[in-house]
Amino acid sequence: MSNSTSRPVVVITRRLPEAVERHATELFDARLNSSDTALTAEQLAEAMRSGDALLPTVSDAITSAILSVSPRRVKIVANFGVGYDNIDIATARSLGIVVTNTPDVLTDDTADLAMTLLLMAARRAGEGERHIRAGDWTGWGPTHMLGTSVSGKTLGILGLGRIGRAVARRAVEGFGMRVIYFDPPVPIGEARAYGASPRQSVEDVLRESDFVSLHMPASPENHHLINADRLALMPRHAILINTARGGVVDEPALAAALKSHVIAAAGLDVFEREPKVDPALITLENVVLLPHLGSATIETRVAMGERALSNLAAFFANAPPHDRVA
Ligand code: DGY
Repeated sequence: MSNSTSRPVVVITRRLPEAVERHATELFDARLNSSDTALTAEQLAEAMRSGDALLPTVSDAITSAILSVSPRRVKIVANFGVGYDNIDIATARSLGIVVTNTPDVLTDDTADLAMTLLLMAARRAGEGERHIRAGDWTGWGPTHMLGTSVSGKTLGILGLGRIGRAVARRAVEGFGMRVIYFDPPVPIGEARAYGASPRQSVEDVLRESDFVSLHMPASPENHHLINADRLALMPRHAILINTARGGVVDEPALAAALKSHVIAAAGLDVFEREPKVDPALITLENVVLLPHLGSATIETRVAMGERALSNLAAFFANAPPHDRVA
């Protein structure tokens, strides 16, 4: 903080829901981004020099160089998002910068969006929309635009954390699906409570599933986990859903697999180089593409903002922030 009487300066990198911005200005000397234009690397570095805290979003790359600016005033980076692969955590740790995220509050909405993609891809909903809007629909027909059933099928979940479990619950209770998963750290008894049965490997899940939904964090080990070799293990009728992070899928390999019908379809909410989407995917009818909408409801975005503010408030009250990840 600049001195003992002034309020902490919190630099907020993007527009947040109005209620959250109002609350931020009540709690802190909040520097808002009224234009909502993403800050450049230079502006983020300047924020590290001028603020006591930074509140970035998952689309701001908080690199080692940005964290290491000198002189630096920021002591806490309160990410607006559950994922924090946008922040160089190793550098933050080595510099003693606290990092927090916003778990729990977006679990249900993100799980809902995974199911949205699954249903859209299975029932060719995106394709059907385009069909009508293009004026191509000539009427109902017994063989017109046939999709595939969801109820009773097998859903494979890779990563049975909070969101993976919420998807499992929806699939089992809402659609009578059989759920299998791979996530070694999850105790088997616990997973069974979500109606999910363990498998020994990613490959086992891919071979056995009609649908596969990805819920692992972005990490060097998970980079391009779903590649051409693994896609080739999936049944030809299988559908891949990704609401985790774009980097866990090799996008050119997926586009090639969709084009040559190695798998039937995919539903993607996240991309490796957002907002860029591989042009090969854009030309394909058998993939549903959404612009990273997993947590995009007013209720959840307010809750995420409040969670970030409460982490900051705890930190500046010398209490441990609830969601500390570094
Ligand atoms: C997150 O919080 O990590 C999400 O991807 C944002 O929707």
